[in-house]
Amino acid sequence: MSRIATSFTLILSLLSTFSIPASCATTQPRNVATLAVCKEIASTVSSASEIWSRPVELYYTEDNYHWAQSSSQVSDGCAQINLLARTQTPFGVKGGGHSANPGFSSTTGVQIAMARFNNVTYDASAGTATIGAGLIWDDVYAELEPYNVNVVGGRVTGVGVAGFTLGGGFSFLSNQYGLTVDTVRAFELVLPNGTITTVTESNPDLFWALKGGFNNFGIVTQFILEAYPQGQVWGGAIITLGELDAVTNATANFYANVADPKASILTTLNWDLGITAVEVNLFYDAPTPPDGIFDEFLAMPYLTRDVSTRSFLSLVLTAPSNATFGLRGYFETVSITDITLPLLDAIVNETEYWSTTLAAEVPGLFVSYDIEPFLPSIYSHGSPSAWPPTRSQGFMPINIYYAWSLEASDSLINSVMQESARYLTQVAISQGQDVANTPHYPNYAIYDTALSTMYGDNVASLQAIKAQYDPDNVMALAGGWKF
Ligand SMILES: Cc1cc2nc3c(=O)[nH]c(=O)nc-3n(C[C@H](O)[C@H](O)[C@H](O)COP(=O)(O)OP(=O)(O)OC[C@H]3O[C@@H](n4cnc5c(N)ncnc54)[C@H](O)[C@@H]3O)c2cc1C
Ligand SMILES: *[C@@H]1O[C@H](CO)[C@@H](O)[C@H](O)[C@H]1NC(C)=O
Ligand SMILES: *[C@@H]1O[C@H](CO)[C@@H](O)[C@H](O)[C@H]1NC(C)=O
Ligand SMILES: *[C@@H]1O[C@H](CO)[C@@H](O)[C@H](O)[C@H]1NC(C)=O
Ligand SMILES: *[C@@H]1O[C@H](CO)[C@@H](O)[C@H](O)[C@H]1NC(C)=O
Ligand SMILES: *[C@@H]1O[C@H](CO)[C@@H](O)[C@H](O)[C@H]1NC(C)=O
Repeated sequence: MSRIATSFTLILSLLSTFSIPASCATTQPRNVATLAVCKEIASTVSSASEIWSRPVELYYTEDNYHWAQSSSQVSDGCAQINLLARTQTPFGVKGGGHSANPGFSSTTGVQIAMARFNNVTYDASAGTATIGAGLIWDDVYAELEPYNVNVVGGRVTGVGVAGFTLGGGFSFLSNQYGLTVDTVRAFELVLPNGTITTVTESNPDLFWALKGGFNNFGIVTQFILEAYPQGQVWGGAIITLGELDAVTNATANFYANVADPKASILTTLNWDLGITAVEVNLFYDAPTPPDGIFDEFLAMPYLTRDVSTRSFLSLVLTAPSNATFGLRGYFETVSITDITLPLLDAIVNETEYWSTTLAAEVPGLFVSYDIEPFLPSIYSHGSPSAWPPTRSQGFMPINIYYAWSLEASDSLINSVMQESARYLTQVAISQGQDVANTPHYPNYAIYDTALSTMYGDNVASLQAIKAQYDPDNVMALAGGWKF
């Protein structure tokens, strides 16, 4: 159990070159000698860092915190620090801990939690915000609000900055400014050999690779993102029951008719306890939306509705996305290029077909399909990046999320989710969409997805850049998508 939120010079040197003090050369974890060494390491790192082992753990829960139980492995960190160098001990790098894929940011080895990288600094003259890799977007929005600026980040509460940004980043602001990767001015990176460097477009290969390539090239400590003016916004969440036709109509009509880049919605079908409820999140980047564009959503009977003029953070907090915290869960995805009624009807059917099929054998089942309309121009705002591998097609991710409470059914659920994703791809193709090879979004893809399904023709370049910057393959010890 170690807390190592810190100067990665030391951490990464540890991984490759740490020489083991005699007192630490123990095979008995968590003994007094090991603990002493952990404390010694902590004292040599920096006062902002802490390295703990279980007996004195104060931050254990926070640093192993993961949103999904399926990715909450218990690390056995400090006791094994000496073993990292010697035995290639696995480690995990955790930003916000929102990956649901087992072992992506969790580990049974040494957990490197970025939590202490928690500063947000706004530089008005540069028009940028420097953001610590341990933060969640909620905190970033709160810090930037007094300056009337914002960055392109998460749409619902609790999501981490680091994984989100290193994988792409679909935001309510993406129709205006692109994905989060398109707004990165620089990454502060600890290379696998322990060198700290600032990666900008003047280092084009590494800059390109970090924009979508996650933890393959080292550990990011801070992101420097473009800051944009931000005033009050309009929107919030509506939850409806029994209004599936009205919701699918409204969603299809919104996608077909609204070309205003300040407008954005999320439509989510949630099946729980035998009922499909729909959550719609509405967003407009001004205090009042133009007449008409959200009328169909506002006309629906609702269970709860919290829509108003408010701060960006207040809008993000209306989504009850933390309700499934602590359940096991997986995400899976398909990419589509059009949102039509027949496809939405198929998504409603998938939600209900699989939830009723699985409910008896999967205790605590929660099934969710979310439709994310974006303008076809969404990828025109940025320059080439590891992800998406193509910007010529205005594709949109569908987010499939299944949660449950027992471990026993994990592989069954994985196969059902992949079957459902393939089925929806076939439905889209039968509707005339050219999506057989459209890239899947790596922040939504289930853990055994092929690299080529997400990164397409970029895989070979990513592998070459990874080999150049990590010749000893240190980052292979950390989970996640691996090049
Ligand atoms: C409720 C919910 C809502 C979401 N909403 C959105 C959304 O609106 N838009 C969207 O695009 N995505 C969304 N996502 C997906 C989200 O982008 C991913 O889960 C993302 O990886 C979360 O980042 P994190 O830092 O919390 O993840 P973590 O689990 O901490 O990390 C994810 C991956 O990134 C790596 N990583 C983390 N920190 C670092 C670092 N400092 N340096 C190098 N590698 C690092 C990890 O090793 C791991 O492989 C959502 C997810 C959830 C659960
Ligand atoms: C965060 O800001 C504080 C105060 O300016 C500074 O002392 C500290 O070094 C910063 N931390 C990081 C990780 O940059
Ligand atoms: C989500 O819920 C968990 C458990 O109640 C809590 O610890 C965590 O702080 C919550 N996260 C947010 C962002 O509210
Ligand atoms: C949905 O739209 C169709 C026409 O496309 C219409 O016949 C139907 O009444 C609408 N349903 C609802 C609930 O609005
Ligand atoms: C509903 O979904 C299942 C599973 O994908 C599929 O076999 C079935 O044909 C679908 N039914 C309809 C009416 O679309
Ligand atoms: C660390 O790696 C970088 C990038 O490959 C390289 O430029 C630098 O010289 C290396 N530093 C050391 C000390 O090996």
